Amino acid sequence: MRTVIEVTVLVALAWPAFRFLSLGPIRTFYRGMAILVAIMLALYLLVILLAAAFLPAVLSVLAPVALAGLLLERWRARPSYGRDAGLPPGSLGLFPRGPWVSHEFYLEQAAKHGPVFKMSFLHKPMICILGARLGGEFIRAHSDQLVKPGVRLNQFIPRGFLRYMKPADHQTYRRIFQSALTTETLRENETALREIIREALGRMAEESAATQGEGLQPREPLRRMLASVFAWLMLGMRTDDPAFPGLIALLDSLDLRAASFVPGHEDRRALAEIERIIQERGAGIRERLARGESPAPSILARLIRDNEAACEDETILGNLVYMFLIGRVDLTGLFSWTLKLLADNPEWMTRLESATGGGENAKAHDLAARIVRETLRMEQSEYINRRAIADIRHQDFLVPKGWVIRVLVREGHRDPALFPEPDRFNPDRYLAEHQDPQLFGVDVHSCIGVSFTDLVTRAVLTEMALGFRWERVSDGPLQFIPPHWQPGTDFRIRIAPRDAR
Ligand code: HEM
Repeated sequence: MRTVIEVTVLVALAWPAFRFLSLGPIRTFYRGMAILVAIMLALYLLVILLAAAFLPAVLSVLAPVALAGLLLERWRARPSYGRDAGLPPGSLGLFPRGPWVSHEFYLEQAAKHGPVFKMSFLHKPMICILGARLGGEFIRAHSDQLVKPGVRLNQFIPRGFLRYMKPADHQTYRRIFQSALTTETLRENETALREIIREALGRMAEESAATQGEGLQPREPLRRMLASVFAWLMLGMRTDDPAFPGLIALLDSLDLRAASFVPGHEDRRALAEIERIIQERGAGIRERLARGESPAPSILARLIRDNEAACEDETILGNLVYMFLIGRVDLTGLFSWTLKLLADNPEWMTRLESATGGGENAKAHDLAARIVRETLRMEQSEYINRRAIADIRHQDFLVPKGWVIRVLVREGHRDPALFPEPDRFNPDRYLAEHQDPQLFGVDVHSCIGVSFTDLVTRAVLTEMALGFRWERVSDGPLQFIPPHWQPGTDFRIRIAPRDAR
């Protein structure tokens, strides 16, 4: 009996591993890590069983230690833990399921504990701050004591990616990219951009027709469309360019996750190959410029106009690559949500169609921009994170050194004092209210892709309204595709050219 109790206690100590493995998105998107944890768990259980069979005395030593560990975890999980020291309320219980299973988890925690609360993100302690206003105040007030938690790919770029750079490098490189990503540079490409979008939407319509009425889950076709959009705007490369398929395959092979299981040398090799492709294009641009000709307008062409040696700087190249990757992820999510919210509120698509009046105009562009802003407010704005590199006291709370801070941007947009009827999709709120959602950051690291996002989203929405009809075929639960919640696999649409129906 005693051995059974000791084994039970030791098995119970492994509950974080069981919980970790019970999280569907972890098993799907962090397969390597899940396999590793499963192997370690199996070994641990095997050792306990062997000890129970052959060395039961060892269990008598280990079980009390395990019991103490279990009690300590529960004691630390009390919402009042650390209140005297200044920690905000909230449970530090390990591996909470909530963030992975509930779209409204953070909002519910804020309703329970207030606008500043603590929790664990997997095993890491984290302080959440509701809303970009409060969160922005905190980040700006303590910028020298905060860093952005990095991702692995960052170490392959000599001075790092903008988000993770040291302040002096950040100033230099941010300025370089800011002057290349201006509205003027991007506008030069608009006519061709629209052509590319029409072609991609046409391909989506063909795929949709081939599903025999079942409809498409739009995420993957949108991702493909955005590959052609980014290749054009960033590099001036069209989809019929022989280098295009190889470039996209290499970009897709790079692993953006912090805990990547792709061997480092594979990412390095892919990155070097992508940089070689960009350098080749850069050489072409320089030749044209030397001959006094105009290269296809692109961000790369603008970088080279500003600095002839831009393509020799691996930090510039690495940042271009990284921007392609993260910008494409952000815009894929944004368009998935736009389609979902328009399908939930079809009157807005009808309004956009009639605003186009058969042609592009300022009214349609304004409405498209409001639809996108409302989609960003409600869904795609997500969060901003930092890590404290020193103990930080702010107002009445403490953030201990090493803890993560998560500013809950999206959840902050559900405050009825800021946005009346916050759960209603109402793009026209921006006609009447002066309250703007904070969508693109709160400090010197704010987004430099705003004009890019604005141009592409308006172009996609107005091209859809002008040339295509689409409708929802089916819907189902949302899905957590780290780090974002997304419309789920059952969300399917049918899309067809206007004249084909
Ligand atoms: C749905 C659209 C987008 C949203 C909501 C968005 C949001 C944001 C936010 C909130 C930040 C600040 C992050 C922080 O402070 O930690 C940021 C930074 C950044 N974004 Fe975006 N972004 C979007 C699209 C894009 C696109 C299309 C690009 C590139 C073409 C881009 C490039 C960047 C870069 C390079 C930074 C880092 C800037 C720096 O550290 O100086 N973003 N973005």
